[in-house]
Amino acid sequence: MTILVTGGAGYIGSHAVRALQRAGLPVLVLDNLVYGHRAIVEQVLQAPLVIGQLGDRDLLESVLRGERSASPIQAVLHFAAYAYVGESVVDPAKYYRNNLGDTLTLLEALVAEGRRRGSPVPIVFSSTCATYGVPEQVPILETTPQHPINPYGHSKRMVEQLLHDFGAAYGLPSVIFRYFNAAGADPAGDLGEDHDPETHLIPLALDAITGRLPCLRIFGDDYPTADGTCIRDYIHVSDLADAHLLGLRRVEAEARRLADGGDPATVKPAIFNLGNGKGYSVREVIQAAEAVTGRPVPTLVAPRRPGDPPVLLAAAAAAQRELGWRPRFPELEVILAHAWAWHQRRHPQLP
Ligand code: UFG
Repeated sequence: MTILVTGGAGYIGSHAVRALQRAGLPVLVLDNLVYGHRAIVEQVLQAPLVIGQLGDRDLLESVLRGERSASPIQAVLHFAAYAYVGESVVDPAKYYRNNLGDTLTLLEALVAEGRRRGSPVPIVFSSTCATYGVPEQVPILETTPQHPINPYGHSKRMVEQLLHDFGAAYGLPSVIFRYFNAAGADPAGDLGEDHDPETHLIPLALDAITGRLPCLRIFGDDYPTADGTCIRDYIHVSDLADAHLLGLRRVEAEARRLADGGDPATVKPAIFNLGNGKGYSVREVIQAAEAVTGRPVPTLVAPRRPGDPPVLLAAAAAAQRELGWRPRFPELEVILAHAWAWHQRRHPQLP
């Protein structure tokens, strides 16, 4: 049986495909390639790719039945989403249509396929710390109230609600992962972050080092933190990918329980924060990038970026306790070293 990876041509999805392949699991990638990279799937991962939109119900049904893979789809890792917070504010329709509307179509298709075969097709969903908005407490627990402050965060929070309701009503098993700041690159050096446009701190700091950017703008140095810059919890993308293997095991066990006659009324999503539980300020990330690369990061203090909470920090003990998840690369220097190796490989012409 095959694992469907939506958004498998994107940053986190492509690392999850690699983790599945390393675990010997057959994979099928579904991606609309709006932001994803065809060459990463076809040439680097050498995984089968269906190019299409999740909202295409006919396409989804044929994919789930196994018409595009050697075997039917056993479970779904659902990464596909637009993730530019700023864009979601100016074009919310794009975010609600894609992240929410198309996911509703996917969930309906999963329920229908599960009924057809008499056993559920479970899902692992990529949510985000952006669903917490400006948190009432840090570190953030899974039970910390969610008050998103932009359409991107709302779209993810709404899908979480769908998963609650689809679990209770239709017995759809799910795991929800709320990622903190995904960073780094596969240690092999052939996969990594490649957004266009790029908005994230670490790749932009590396761009400033190599001159692809004249300088890195520090968005605000008057926050109520020790050095005045925002604090984030950076988690290695390969550690996120590993968590998905564990999440997959968890939803598959739940699907088996239901197929064996378990009570579908008791189904609810299992929710886990994924972070290291250690925060670094923007200035600390810059210092670490300078130490790892041995080169200066030219910087400029700029106004605050609207919608940036001062501190986001995960309490991630639940994933460790309940799934046995152990991040392999928790040190910021290692995350940066892997990001740097990828950056140099991605832009070989740069000094
Ligand atoms: N930052 C800068 N200069 C930059 C870019 C970022 O100072 O050029 C600062 C930001 O203000 C923030 C920190 O660096 O304080 C990290 O910013 P990122 O853009 O790298 O990441 P975010 O914290 O904004 O990540 C958020 C959410 C994620 C969400 C993601 C969407 O935490 O859950 O946006 O891309 F998925």
